Amino acid sequence: MAGRRGALIVLEGVDRAGKTTQSRKLVAALCAAGQRAELLRFPERSTEIGKLLSSYLEKKSEVEDHSVHLLFSANRWEQVPLIKEKLNQGITLIVDRYAFSGVAFTNAKENFSLDWCKQPDVGLPKPDLVVFLHLKLAEAVERGGFGRERYEDGAFQERALRCFYHLMEDRTLNWKMVDASKSIEDVHKEICALSEDIIQTVARRPLGKLWT
Ligand SMILES: Nc1ncnc2c1ncn2[C@@H]1O[C@H](COP(=O)(O)OP(=O)(O)O)[C@@H](O)[C@H]1O
Ligand SMILES: [Mg+2]
Repeated sequence: MAGRRGALIVLEGVDRAGKTTQSRKLVAALCAAGQRAELLRFPERSTEIGKLLSSYLEKKSEVEDHSVHLLFSANRWEQVPLIKEKLNQGITLIVDRYAFSGVAFTNAKENFSLDWCKQPDVGLPKPDLVVFLHLKLAEAVERGGFGRERYEDGAFQERALRCFYHLMEDRTLNWKMVDASKSIEDVHKEICALSEDIIQTVARRPLGKLWT
């Protein structure tokens, strides 16, 4: 297996689309099939920066909007050495949210251009596959009312969704839209098939840089 790198697979989508459910199931299925796969999530709340973000999301603290955007990005950058190391060891990484959520949530605020929002994440490891779990906001709300964390409000989520659509127009990225309104098992099967394919395809290709 020497020389084969792991794939970087990101799951994105609005709140409650099933990102956490599906990323866990995917890691379990890949491991059960004898692949080496591990789960990452952003924000990664366990680091010093992650603790600031967690407190901000729980509305226990206020952080200026530009500043918090840069902290979310920094929280991804601080994991880059680990991401590269794992991928080089042949471990596939399944990532629950990535830079796209970071951009969409800040762009949903007033007076933040898409370009400004993207800049801090330019050059991050480029995902080999971005699965977008597509779910109407009305259906997402039926999966349980919004929680009390920051950003969990309908109008805000709607603006974030529109930004995701813009980001998906970027053909330099391998976006795959999956209908997240189907059953957990059906969605899972679709994501497994996409993932198994990409793991084979990228094993001997170099890792790219996001938005460069
Ligand atoms: N395909 C699905 N059909 C019905 N309910 C689902 C489906 N996928 C996830 N759920 C449920 O919706 C809720 C949100 O799922 P979760 O994976 O936490 O979403 P996210 O991480 O995208 O916010 C959970 O209660 C989960 O069990
Ligand atoms: Mg989640």
